[in-house]
Amino acid sequence: MSDRVREVVDLVRERLVFLREIGAREVTRVAAPAQRGSAPIQARGSQAEGPSRGAPATAGKGVAPAAAGAGARAAAQVEVLETAAPSLLDADRYVLPPGASPAEGLEALRVEEIGDCKRCKLWRGRTRIVFGSGNPKARLMFVGEGPGADEDDQGLPFVGRAGQKLTEIIEKGMGIPRSEVYIANIIKCRPPENRDPEAEEIAACEGFLLKQIDIIRPKVVVALGKFAAQTLLRSKMPISSLRGRFWRYRDCLLMPTFHPAFLLRQYTPENRRIVWEDLKKVKQALDAPDGSVR
Ligand code: URA
Repeated sequence: MSDRVREVVDLVRERLVFLREIGAREVTRVAAPAQRGSAPIQARGSQAEGPSRGAPATAGKGVAPAAAGAGARAAAQVEVLETAAPSLLDADRYVLPPGASPAEGLEALRVEEIGDCKRCKLWRGRTRIVFGSGNPKARLMFVGEGPGADEDDQGLPFVGRAGQKLTEIIEKGMGIPRSEVYIANIIKCRPPENRDPEAEEIAACEGFLLKQIDIIRPKVVVALGKFAAQTLLRSKMPISSLRGRFWRYRDCLLMPTFHPAFLLRQYTPENRRIVWEDLKKVKQALDAPDGSVR
């Protein structure tokens, strides 16, 4: 067996072990990451599930059957709920200067706009600003709460234990290299003792995240955990009700799911299965023809 074949076999084995661990009963197709504007990846078949328990009052109103794209062999159904944050649907979008690439837009935001930010009190305790990292043209973005000690130390999001779990979920679970997605947080500086960010800290920082989303223009944003989901959706609903379905969010689909740190704390077969179910839907939406679910 050549080294390359052995490497591939090892990767497949690792992925299968991980999938078994999270209770996966079928393996999703691993598609090559598509660039924006390229030919759509065809969905394999409908695995749609309607809104489950705890549906909000608006649930179902904006349900949009999706993915009837020409040429799709068997179109996936991606159900999208109305957003809990209508003001963010109407809000202005940040538009890149003509000719600027998403990478340049992000860099300008990081250096020129955020700079050595002192807009809220968190600057006093931070080591580094954790701007975000990944592919500036990612079709999939993850948003967490805020940096912890490891992230503050390295200036990168999700590099501690929760980050390792997230990487495992993305790479072994979803079959996507971490470098292909973009990862950021609601706030960019570590709160003391990892407490929840306060309203004024969010108000000072969230605009930067919105700009990142507008620049990257992912198809799907995954909100990790209660805090990120409730903040992005302007909702007080529990994560158990928000998760598992797509919400319209600006120009993307937003899927709330459990935070990897919660998963680490309560590593039960049920919680692993739940996250896996949510991320299967995300994969399905990513694989559905572009334009059919947005
Ligand atoms: N938890 C988060 O929400 N974000 C990080 O970057 C790390 C841990």
